Parts: sequence; structure tokens; C-alpha cells
Amino acid sequence: MIVCVCKSVSDRTIRASLQSGASTFDELQFELGVATCCGKCEETVRDLVAACGACTSLCGPGTHPARHVAPASVEFYERKAA
Ligand code: FES
Repeated sequence: MIVCVCKSVSDRTIRASLQSGASTFDELQFELGVATCCGKCEETVRDLVAACGACTSLCGPGTHPARHVAPASVEFYERKAA
């Protein structure tokens, strides 16, 4: 499913990037361009980072309870015609 409509980046691509070494939101922005246009995908991308455990390994377990309560749900944003 496409997470970032502006850059046509899917959740699979984000997960693959996280598995191949990216560990922060900023790295995903740099590598994939997510959340660099309209920004509507930022929360979902951050949730994917939190769900992959990278945040836990960097910040320590339990430091961001709101992000670790439940697995991230991926939201799809539809682009409306102008
Ligand atoms: S949907 Fe990701 S920057 Fe617009």
C-alpha cells in the first residue's frame, strides 16, 4: 500500500529500507523522500519506524509509550482532484 502519495513510496519499501539499515525518520526522508512534500504521511512513517523497533534500540524501551502501545496501522491518504 502506498504510504507517501507524493513520492509514491509504499509500506513495503519503507520496511525494506528499515531492514537494510535505515533506523530513523530522518534517514527515511533522505533515502526515500517521504514526508518531504505535503507531509501527510509523516505520522504513518514515524509509526512504521517505531513498529520496526529501531526507536527502541536507539532510545531504550518504553521511552515513547504512545508509539509502542500498539502496532502501527498504515493509513492511506487519497489525493483529491483539484
Ligand atoms: S504523502 Fe508523503 S509527502 Fe505527501
